[in-house]
Amino acid sequence: MNEGVGVAYRPEFESYLTELSSWVDAFEIISENYLNDIESEELDILLKLKPLLAHSVSLSIGSTTLPKDKKLDKFNKLIKKCNLDSISDHLSFSEIEDIQINNFINLPFTEEMLDIVCQNIQYVQNKTEKKFLFENIVYFLSWPQNDYSEIEFISKLVKKADCGILLDISNLYINSENNKYCPYNFIDHLPKDFVGYYHVSGFDKEGDILVDSHDKNVDPEVWKLVEYSLRKTSGNVLIIERDNNSTNKEELHSEISIAKDIWNKTKNYKVMSKL
Ligand SMILES: [Fe+2]
Repeated sequence: MNEGVGVAYRPEFESYLTELSSWVDAFEIISENYLNDIESEELDILLKLKPLLAHSVSLSIGSTTLPKDKKLDKFNKLIKKCNLDSISDHLSFSEIEDIQINNFINLPFTEEMLDIVCQNIQYVQNKTEKKFLFENIVYFLSWPQNDYSEIEFISKLVKKADCGILLDISNLYINSENNKYCPYNFIDHLPKDFVGYYHVSGFDKEGDILVDSHDKNVDPEVWKLVEYSLRKTSGNVLIIERDNNSTNKEELHSEISIAKDIWNKTKNYKVMSKL
C-alpha cells in the first residue's frame, strides 16, 4: 500500500479530478459503487490516477449470518482489478436477514459478539485472502449488557481475528466528547501495530451532541488528535472524508495541505524514533 494523504472519492470531485489527484497520494473508493460495475469508466480513470483503497458499507460484520459468497466473489474481482492490499467496513451491523438497514448500528461489546464478529472477519479474510480492517463508528447509545469497553473489545478483536483497524480519528473524538472520556488515553491503549490507515472528517453539533456529518472542515482539536494518533500508531494512509456536496476546491485543498503538514511532521518523528 502507498503511504501518505488521500481523499475519499466522491462524484462532486469529478470536475477537478486531475488537479485533485496532483494533491494526494491515494483515493479511497466505496466498494459497493463498483461491485456490479467492475468495468466502470470512472473506476478506470481513478486507477490510472492514483493507488486505490476500498471502503465498504454492506458487509455487516456484526450480523449473525456470514457474509454471502456471491458478494465476496465480487469483492475478489474488485481486489484483483484495483490491486488492493486490504478491504474495510464498519464495526457494526447493517443487515438483518437480507434486509439492508441504511445505517450502522453499534454492536454490544460482549463475549458472544466478539465470537460472531471474529468468525465473520475470518470468513472474509479467508475468502478474499486479504486483510480486513474494521472502522470504529460513532455511537449514540451503549448496550447495557456490555462485557467490555470499546477499547477492550477492539483490542481483543484484532488479536483474535488477526485483522486490522481503520481508525476514524474524528469518530473517536466525537465519541469521546459525547461519552466523556479521554481520546488520547484511547489511543495509548490501542494495539498500535494493528492500525492499517486513518479517516478524518468534520463534524456538526446538534444541541450538546456531536454528529459525524462529514460536511465541515476538520476541527482544530481533531487535527491535534490526528497528530498524536499518527505518532503513536502504525497506519500508512490518512484519508479525508468530505460528503454531502459540502466542499469547494479551495477548501479541500486547504484541508489536504493541513493533513500533509501533519503527515510529514509525524513521518519524520517516526523515522527519528527508530534511530
Ligand atoms: Fe470514517
